[in-house]
Amino acid sequence: MKRGKTAVIVGAQWGDEGKGKIVDVLTQTFSVVARYAGGHNAGHTVTIQGKRFILQLVPGGILRPGCVNVIGNGVVFDPLAFLKEVAALREAGVTVDKNLFISNRAQVILPYHRMMELGAENAPGRVKIGTTSRGIGPAYEDKMGRRGLRVADLLDPRLLRTHIENACREKNMIAHALFNSEPLDADKMFAEYSAASEKIAPFVRDTALLLNQALADGKSIVFEGAQGTMLDIDHGTYPFVTSSSATSGGAATGTGVPPTSIDTVIGITKAYCTRVGGGPFPTEALDAQGEDLRKRGNEYGAVTGRPRRTGWVDLPLLRYAGMINGISWLVVTKLDVLDHLTEIPVCVGYKINGKETSEVPAQASGYDKIECLYRKMPGWATSTQRVRTFEELPKAAREYMAFIEHETGARVGMISTGPDREQTILRPEFVDALGLKH
Ligand code: GDP
Ligand code: IMO
Ligand code: MG
Repeated sequence: MKRGKTAVIVGAQWGDEGKGKIVDVLTQTFSVVARYAGGHNAGHTVTIQGKRFILQLVPGGILRPGCVNVIGNGVVFDPLAFLKEVAALREAGVTVDKNLFISNRAQVILPYHRMMELGAENAPGRVKIGTTSRGIGPAYEDKMGRRGLRVADLLDPRLLRTHIENACREKNMIAHALFNSEPLDADKMFAEYSAASEKIAPFVRDTALLLNQALADGKSIVFEGAQGTMLDIDHGTYPFVTSSSATSGGAATGTGVPPTSIDTVIGITKAYCTRVGGGPFPTEALDAQGEDLRKRGNEYGAVTGRPRRTGWVDLPLLRYAGMINGISWLVVTKLDVLDHLTEIPVCVGYKINGKETSEVPAQASGYDKIECLYRKMPGWATSTQRVRTFEELPKAAREYMAFIEHETGARVGMISTGPDREQTILRPEFVDALGLKH
């Protein structure tokens, strides 16, 4: 029996590259979607015939009838956020039964994680990351500290009670001492989370087993990355990162599918660049053009509504993302946002202390020393929103794609020219390589 094919979708920038939309397009043929990292800090937008869905924990395949969706062990899982999301999907007429599974090994986010994060973000002397305030970082801290609660434990009422009592005692003391926070009530928390656990139970599985079985049965899997390469805990702009392995390696550890079963890594990049929250951003455009990108690209956080910082494609970072993730295909999204421009600045290299370098700084402060070397690419100054084939794209747009390919060594397999499922250009080589239908 031939194993099913697999592909990882990974953000090549600082998140919000349009991963949700691209996962949705791939579910034309892929039959399983598995999230491997992050939590409800993610906001993945899928637009189908003008109807907009923003998914946070639930994988993008939920909107494709027949597709199986898995929330992997690498995810930090907020039961209340999950139930809210599921209720909203049901309300919108989406089926969420027997096609959505949560790993019994995923870590659970509890209210004291948010309390600790809020305290830390506002404490004097601490670096303010500009987090999404979802308790993501403290939940991963507890995981690595080997004192977390996993979904399997959430379903065990005796264990849940003991865990909440002990954890609340400890966290209340720490939060009071460090941040003067109000204590949380363990009894109330237990009542709320044990009630939630009953609703969660039908979704819980050994998803590593489920996924490996699916592969053995010849089913294909998309691993849906959250966040992006530059937000990865190891490889991103530390400490201005999230707390998970957002890069492609996380797909294996975050689901229990071995690295040897991963066929392809697809990096998603905008035709420009954005970042939300604090931290380095070498190509940030703090001028009228940056404001223009924000307006045209509607660059406001899908989850928090915060305005996203905007700037230009950063080829040194795209090459870095290519190296770290093993990107063989790139998907370029939001090309239409550049439709009005006659000239597009692209950062082609870095100079640090007057010397050109291909090394990306390890220290956040190292980015302050970067001088970006720009090249101005010709714009096309015409709408691409209705274009459906690569050949129909204006010549300057095709040249822009060819330049990105040349500079990154990855092939551009797909181009997105609008939020809708239909506003997508699939290149025949990509369709063939991934076994996608036209
Ligand atoms: P994700 O987190 O990577 O899934 O991306 P988000 O959903 O947070 O942000 C991407 C935003 O861009 C969403 O509002 C999408 O609907 C929108 N979008 C995706 N692709 C395109 C595109 O090609 N053109 C335009 N104009 N919008 C797009
Ligand atoms: P998707 O999956 C963009 C950013 C936050 C903050 C930093 C740490 O939609 O691309 P956290 O709450 O994770 O501890 O915040 O990471 N961040 C994202 N930025 N897209 C995301 O997800 C993000 N998830 C987290 O803004 O700077
Ligand atoms: Mg997003």
